[in-house]
Amino acid sequence: MSAKSLISITDFSKEEYLKIMHLAEDFEANPNQKLLQGKVIATLFFEPSTRTRLSFETAINRLGGKIIGFSDSSSSSVSKGETLHDTIRMVSNYADMIIMRHPLEGSARYASEVSSVPVINAGDGANQHPSQTLLDMYSITKTQGSLDNINLFLVGDLKYGRTVHSLLMAMLQFKDPIFNFIAPPELAMPNEYKILLTSKGIKYFEHTEFTDIINAADIIYMTRVQKERFIDPVEYEKVKNVYILRDAMLSNTKENMRILHPLPRINEIHTDVDSNPKAYYFTQAKNGVYTRMAIIAHLLNLK
Ligand code: CP
Repeated sequence: MSAKSLISITDFSKEEYLKIMHLAEDFEANPNQKLLQGKVIATLFFEPSTRTRLSFETAINRLGGKIIGFSDSSSSSVSKGETLHDTIRMVSNYADMIIMRHPLEGSARYASEVSSVPVINAGDGANQHPSQTLLDMYSITKTQGSLDNINLFLVGDLKYGRTVHSLLMAMLQFKDPIFNFIAPPELAMPNEYKILLTSKGIKYFEHTEFTDIINAADIIYMTRVQKERFIDPVEYEKVKNVYILRDAMLSNTKENMRILHPLPRINEIHTDVDSNPKAYYFTQAKNGVYTRMAIIAHLLNLK
């Protein structure tokens, strides 16, 4: 089997999702497996990142690979006007795989078409963030025991949030998901996703209020209102503090409910939640290392 790219979460089958969950579990149990010895991986981040870049780079280090790349494109020849096409053509001469974050939707797919090596999309604008979704799925599997029958509450910026779009697409593959969308009208889940759910007979509910409806949740997936996606700063100011999850709101939620957030957070999860055992977001970020080891190993056919 030849190596392939991961651009959209739908590039993987259900069997591949389950294989990634299994491999991530294996890497969590035994994180130092030198499967990348002799290989070079490029991390090209045209947009800021803490978790995605550092957890990918930790994953590569744990696998024994070497890293090249940049975390700020102004230090590359992009600042002299070099195109994405030429940058990718060049870097694919140097590395065995490219991991790229870029602000333009569709840029990762384009990169995979001009690259001679596999590309992992580490986030392309408001479009997709598939490695985040796989680590979210690993976190759901670890905390709920399964990806079936999950009542998932997605909260906040459901319009521009690439993580919620990817997670929704992945969870469609599993048995009887229920989706609850909590967002202000300006940031509602785009119609294309709702039409898709309806066409598959999957239940979804829309809310604008953040109330005790969350008591039914297995997972509350909080998201940040992303300032960088707004063209008009006035529109951002209107919705930036729309939902804040506080510890007092959790008293009647399910015992096994867990709170996920792709992070970074601004103020949408109050710090008084952090010490509640239902807060899982920092462990979720740690799960990113094992999941990204699994993705790399799977794409390069190392496992
Ligand atoms: N979750 C996530 O993508 O975080 P970073 O922007 O810090 O990579």
